[in-house]
Amino acid sequence: MLDLVPAFDYRRDLQRYRVEIDEAIARVIDSGWLILGPEVEAFEHAFANSVNVKHAIGVASGTDALILALRAVGVKAGDEVITVANTAVPTVSAIRAIDAIPRFVDIDASTLQMSTTALRAAMRSAVRCIIPVHLHGHPADIEAIESIADAHGTPVVSDCAQAHGAMVGNQSVGQFSSICCYSFYPTKNLAALGDGGICVTRSDTLAETLRELRQYGFHNDRTAHREGVCSRLDELQSAVLSVRLAHFEANQRRRDEIADHYFAGLSGSEVQLPSRRPGIRHAWHQFVVRTVDRPALIARLQAAKIGFGIHYPQPIHLMPAYQFLGYKKGDLLETERAADEILSLPMFPGLRDDEVERVIAAVRGTR
Ligand SMILES: Cc1ncc(COP(=O)(O)O)c(C=O)c1O
Repeated sequence: MLDLVPAFDYRRDLQRYRVEIDEAIARVIDSGWLILGPEVEAFEHAFANSVNVKHAIGVASGTDALILALRAVGVKAGDEVITVANTAVPTVSAIRAIDAIPRFVDIDASTLQMSTTALRAAMRSAVRCIIPVHLHGHPADIEAIESIADAHGTPVVSDCAQAHGAMVGNQSVGQFSSICCYSFYPTKNLAALGDGGICVTRSDTLAETLRELRQYGFHNDRTAHREGVCSRLDELQSAVLSVRLAHFEANQRRRDEIADHYFAGLSGSEVQLPSRRPGIRHAWHQFVVRTVDRPALIARLQAAKIGFGIHYPQPIHLMPAYQFLGYKKGDLLETERAADEILSLPMFPGLRDDEVERVIAAVRGTR
């Protein structure tokens, strides 16, 4: 009987670093310091270096990173924030958490990222921020997005939750935009043992604002200098993340290898392979193929015991919670078409070559 090839299995990846992780956890327990201490500081420093940005501010989740970033750049209730509807729901939850209004623009059909043509057409004075999402780990066309934003004096907050490791030329995606937000949710390329997130910025002022916002508006005292919240990255999670960050690049190389293996094995097959804009490094958070007959592909994968995902099956503008925004089917044609055709193949560093071969055979229908 064949074993299941999992879409994702965090235990395999964690097992390889188990001794180092256990040591890191023991170090924190013995330290007597659990909140905003030396582990957070060391991890923030290492993370900032890894994406080549001056400041990193650890927070409780990727969603909180976005909420605090929007507040830090001055987005207020009623302001419009442009993003895409094929993203994960939290991008939009973050906008709504401060009572701002999401406005969706369509995607580019080949990269599945924000269409800069649609963005240009959507810019107007009520727009107070743009959130490009580097979805699946493929960088959005961030240079063009930044230049459109600059022309309107609009700040950009990048959603890099799926894009740690993604590069545009020799710059990490985190080096663009006023603030970039990452998530350490356990399925992410850099994963905590629970929730966590981080904001990065080159601005001293924004970094100070974010530090105040994440803890009740405190500066280095117990006085609220602005209205803040409680959203801190724990010492325990930071210690674990430091271990995983040290192995991050090796794991990204393994993702590259798996992607190359899929490209070699699936070229000329019935599925459309992910596009790679020239000059970028894809972070391969997901390996997303497209097919007009997804039910048939799903049947082949299920028969061969191959796990898969769909990121995401329903665009956000059509979800029940967001009907009040007034969008309807047909408003974002490329987004809607992609939602019906995409499928994510297994992709995580612990995936074995023989498993990749089984996935390829199942997609091709040769087994
Ligand atoms: C694109 C995107 N944005 C934001 C988030 C929110 O991150 P978190 O789950 O850490 O709040 C996620 C992950 O869930 C995501 O995939």
